[in-house]
Amino acid sequence: MSDLFLTFPRDFIWGAATAAYQIEGAVNEDGRGPSIWDTFSHTPGKIFNDDTGDVADDHYHRWKDDIALIASLGLGAYRFSIAWSRVLPQGKGTVNGRGLDFYDRLVDGLLANKVQPWVTLYHWDLPQALQDEGGWSNRQTADYFADYARITVQRLGDRVKHWITLNEPYVSSFLGHHTGVHAPGIRNIETALEVAHHLHLAHGLAVEAIRSAAPKTTQVGITLNLHSIHPASQSEADLQAARRFDGIQNRLFLDPISKGSYPQDLIDFFGRRFPSIGPDDMHIIQAPVDFLGVNNYFRFVIQNDPDDPDLRLREIFLKEREYTEMWEIYPPGIYEVLTRVWKDYGPAKMYITENGCAVPDGIDADGRVRDYRRTRFLRDHLFQCYRAIGDGVPLKGYFVWSLMDNFEWAYGYAKRFGITYIDYSSQKRTLKDSGAWYSRLARANGFDLNETEPFFPR
Ligand code: FCB
Repeated sequence: MSDLFLTFPRDFIWGAATAAYQIEGAVNEDGRGPSIWDTFSHTPGKIFNDDTGDVADDHYHRWKDDIALIASLGLGAYRFSIAWSRVLPQGKGTVNGRGLDFYDRLVDGLLANKVQPWVTLYHWDLPQALQDEGGWSNRQTADYFADYARITVQRLGDRVKHWITLNEPYVSSFLGHHTGVHAPGIRNIETALEVAHHLHLAHGLAVEAIRSAAPKTTQVGITLNLHSIHPASQSEADLQAARRFDGIQNRLFLDPISKGSYPQDLIDFFGRRFPSIGPDDMHIIQAPVDFLGVNNYFRFVIQNDPDDPDLRLREIFLKEREYTEMWEIYPPGIYEVLTRVWKDYGPAKMYITENGCAVPDGIDADGRVRDYRRTRFLRDHLFQCYRAIGDGVPLKGYFVWSLMDNFEWAYGYAKRFGITYIDYSSQKRTLKDSGAWYSRLARANGFDLNETEPFFPR
């Protein structure tokens, strides 16, 4: 073993993550109701290649194989999401027992293989029936979410010890309601802000619902996508633009949950466009959580832009930097996020609930998938996580995105994030090199920074 072997803290959790609509398929089976992602993906022109999640990874039928895969990797945890419209096809009202049965079997199967289930309740797939009543711009959706949380926890809470209320409320609110590139495809900044507030309420109400339905030791958290944000220059205008974007991306979500208030600079900037807040709202939203889940993929470089009507800024791309198929590779960003959140908000525990990248890959003639760039991406980000832990950040686990290639939202199947390759015509799963490396790391609870062949060819 070289002296550059980095060992993670004892009990550090190594996992992999997925989400319901991205992998399950079987959209019309066992009483599942449609979600906004069914509607959106079936609207021509919304998704690259007009792909849909109708079949995806066919995980709904292949879940046993997928559990065997997770177990074979030696992972201690698996983060997946529950499709609200399998449990409540209309989003509220009649419970669909067969939907819950699926997750019941999944949870038991994971536990039988010594894999801890980490369950996300909302990974963007709002039941379409609730969208028909206004979706997240309807405040009542928050109450329906809490009901759904309670019903689900009543069924699974004796075995699931980690619950995540929402995945990336920034993305559901702003990509769904401001840029409109995600379901339900609305483009209105005021709606996006209102939706963000209702998502916060949904989170707070669900935390209470989960706690009342689950055993005392149950851990409840939320997953936010948090970014390192750099100004394009040191000009006052760019510095302010970067600060504004940090407000929208990071503080709009961190502040209410941890401090019970919205950032004053954003309230001032948006003025009358900022949603009205009910007297008890902030108290509900600030319900104490046990951990903060952080999804981190890339950083933003932000420039002032007077022509942008809503936020007066734009993202810029730097020629000299390396990009994946989606985003810039900037490993120190994950360190910057972890240390900043810890310093400014002091969460008791943090987990990286997603990190990974889309790079072109494919199966070679010898059957191997040599996704060197992904392996390097993971190693370089984990090195930065290791640094953060060394600084005292209470980072307790890491979940790679993703267990397998899947439906990447507006990009359809064109972007592959998996450590397992999916052949979508045969549904065959093939572990990539990055998966073999990650599995070894999980078993050894660390990795060798000096390593070369076969995972890091010179
Ligand atoms: C995150 C999402 C996840 C996946 C990755 C690439 O924003 O939570 O579902 O699409 O990005």
